[in-house]
Amino acid sequence: MIQPHAIFNINGMITSEDIGISVLDRGYLYGDSLYEVVRSYRGVFVHLEEHLDRLENSARLCSMKLGQSRAVYREQILRTFEAFQKQPDMSRTDVYCRIIVTRGVGRIGFAHSKIQTPSQFTLILMPIEEPSPDQWKQGLHLWIADRLRNDSRALDPAMKSGNYLNSVLAYLETVETQRSLPVDDAVLCNSEGHVTEGTTFNIFYVRRGIVCTPPLEIGILDGITRREVIELARNEKMEVREVRFPRERLLEADEVFVTSSIKEVMAVTRINGIDLKSRQEGPVTRALRLLYRDSVDQRVAKLETGL
Ligand code: PDD
Repeated sequence: MIQPHAIFNINGMITSEDIGISVLDRGYLYGDSLYEVVRSYRGVFVHLEEHLDRLENSARLCSMKLGQSRAVYREQILRTFEAFQKQPDMSRTDVYCRIIVTRGVGRIGFAHSKIQTPSQFTLILMPIEEPSPDQWKQGLHLWIADRLRNDSRALDPAMKSGNYLNSVLAYLETVETQRSLPVDDAVLCNSEGHVTEGTTFNIFYVRRGIVCTPPLEIGILDGITRREVIELARNEKMEVREVRFPRERLLEADEVFVTSSIKEVMAVTRINGIDLKSRQEGPVTRALRLLYRDSVDQRVAKLETGL
């Protein structure tokens, strides 16, 4: 069996002696890989099974045969996490865990017959960088990119592939362009001018108490946080609509927020240099952020007691 490599800390503390990844790996050659990012809370991965489900779904969407079983992925993630936590001062640290699977290593060329190994599997674990209380309050400053989201008939955004060049370019072209006010990240529209999602997060807006977000059919990632936030909002009797909308809707909204496993529920307070109505985290965003945190706490407690 192929042993996964574990890089415990991106700042140089590589615990695996030889991390050698072949230059003939399809991930390196063609971006022919998948990935997931899952985070831990107080020693527990709360959404690990959902991320493994999505990894399997992504593999189906790109006809990739996963070389290891789900049980092996789960076991290796937990084993590596345990080793990570044994490092000095890391026992209670919340981690960012990236699971990368590539189609394998072989000869140059696209055919499956060129591949000489099962899919390859790497884990990167590092401490989560939490936003400061001020950053939570201030929220994100986004820019709507000129670059379009990939069409689902091209590189389907529903598949969490390792080929993030679409997001990388949107980010570089917005965040790294000289502007009078700094920008944190980019949002992408599709060719019809509808808002889709951010580079690594889903997006929502609130107008007159109604929570709106683009539907999955538009060509976005089925975010695990998005799914949970929609459910939590509906449980609280909030109206949630999954609808297509143009970029103007974000600028006119009462509140805008984003969701991801890393950002959780985070307010957006400025878009394209324009201050939104709520210049700080708004009441609906705050309510959903706290509900999400509560739900995470409940899951942690459940997993800790093994119930
Ligand atoms: N990004 N949309 C895109 C394009 C994403 O890459 C992600 C996740 C999400 C949110 O999905 P989830 O709620 O399941 O994390 C939406 C991760 C965090 C990343 O690539 O780092």
